[in-house]
Amino acid sequence: RKAPSRKGSMHDVPKDLMKQIKDLEAQFTVETPKLHEIVAKFQSELEKGLTREGGSIPMNPTWVIGYPSGEETGTYLALDMGGTNLRVCEVELPEEKGQYDIYQSKYRLPEELKSGTGEQLFDYIAECVKQFLIANHEGEDISELKDLHLGFTFSYPCTQDAIDHGVLQRWTKGFDISGVEGEDVVPMFEEALERKGVPIRITALVNDTTGTLIASAYTDPLTRIGCIFGTGCNAAYMEEVGCVPKLDHLGLDPNLQIAINCEWGAFDNERVVLPRTVYDVHIDKTSPRPGQQIFEKMVAGLYLGELFRLVLVDLHANPEVKIFEGQDISALQNEYSLDASFLADIENDPWENLMETHALFEKNLKIDTTEPERKLVRRLAELIGTRAARLSACGVAAIAKKKGITSCHVGADGSVFNLYPHFQTRGAQALREIFGWGKEVREDPIQIVPSEDGSGVGAALIAALTMKRIKQGIH
Ligand code: GLC
Repeated sequence: RKAPSRKGSMHDVPKDLMKQIKDLEAQFTVETPKLHEIVAKFQSELEKGLTREGGSIPMNPTWVIGYPSGEETGTYLALDMGGTNLRVCEVELPEEKGQYDIYQSKYRLPEELKSGTGEQLFDYIAECVKQFLIANHEGEDISELKDLHLGFTFSYPCTQDAIDHGVLQRWTKGFDISGVEGEDVVPMFEEALERKGVPIRITALVNDTTGTLIASAYTDPLTRIGCIFGTGCNAAYMEEVGCVPKLDHLGLDPNLQIAINCEWGAFDNERVVLPRTVYDVHIDKTSPRPGQQIFEKMVAGLYLGELFRLVLVDLHANPEVKIFEGQDISALQNEYSLDASFLADIENDPWENLMETHALFEKNLKIDTTEPERKLVRRLAELIGTRAARLSACGVAAIAKKKGITSCHVGADGSVFNLYPHFQTRGAQALREIFGWGKEVREDPIQIVPSEDGSGVGAALIAALTMKRIKQGIH
């Protein structure tokens, strides 16, 4: 039997659908020259973000100074508030270099909290921490646990003038909680802990990308960049203080290494270089923060399913296209009802007759698809997933070029990186096109590799590094 072709045959797809597929290909494909153009602009925006005047990308100094040595020890608490789940961890860093043990509990972050008040949010998180401590410190008095140090992974853009402070610049990833933007989240959270009778203070406020950078560097010395490709998309890397003009006024040692949380989701907020479709424009306009996170809205997991849904609703409304004819598409009309895992499942379906896709549409959307329709939706999922991977690679390439890095590992985490089919190979392919690595290059010099747990272990390591600096009096 012939192996089913990976691409799938389009010969039985009617002309009108074929025309639509071609049209979608034209809208969603990012060719090599465009990649070059985006990387060049990205690189100049990274530079701008480090200046006093700033640009669209925040480039936030994190006060994480230098890499871990591998010899950090102790027991730390780590709290991870990412975007989808909440996790409380206790991390043990033993004497053996580069090792760790982790105990953790996951809690759902209730949907309604994402548009409530800051107090509701922090009370909920503080309660989770309390429950975790009760479960893991049986027989101990919680009010006596003051010596535990907490690394709080709060994965939103913050202005930090010290590692244990952070003023939220703005919510991202669809959050819209009142009374927190422009405020220091550390005292807000510490007050909530106090209300719950938990006497713990925050040692370090950490971004997930910085956590990923540090956790990956702890076990892999080739690491230079940490990335998250998940609900949101972002990266962090180490910069010399001397290359950060906006820190000049502090008179620090210019050779000091400081982690920069790029917040690259905000790339191209001025909308000049990214090849946006009408669907990207719609996502932005109807989001709680229009005009912000323009790059993130094209590549991150939160938006991939919505992009896909918007295209299908649009095709169905087009009288020239016959798609889902005579079917009730009301379920498809619910905003944000499909997440990236829906696309991932479609992309995992063998091309042969796409029966899994048939089942997915039937079960989730009550739509009975024809084979040509399934070929169109499959191609659409590929286009959206491929574009996300290729655009994401532009950010990685831009940091590498800015720093003059010619070979390194990029530690990466997040649901899209870990679970979306072909995301990694598509990203690697884009890097080859950007850097011009041909067949003669046996191993890609810059590789995006799965990271250690940045939001747990990374946050604990950063708390450990902070304590060491405090003990040495260089805080
Ligand atoms: C969003 C947040 C950023 C985070 C990223 C990945 O872009 O603004 O802080 O790193 O999502 O979670």
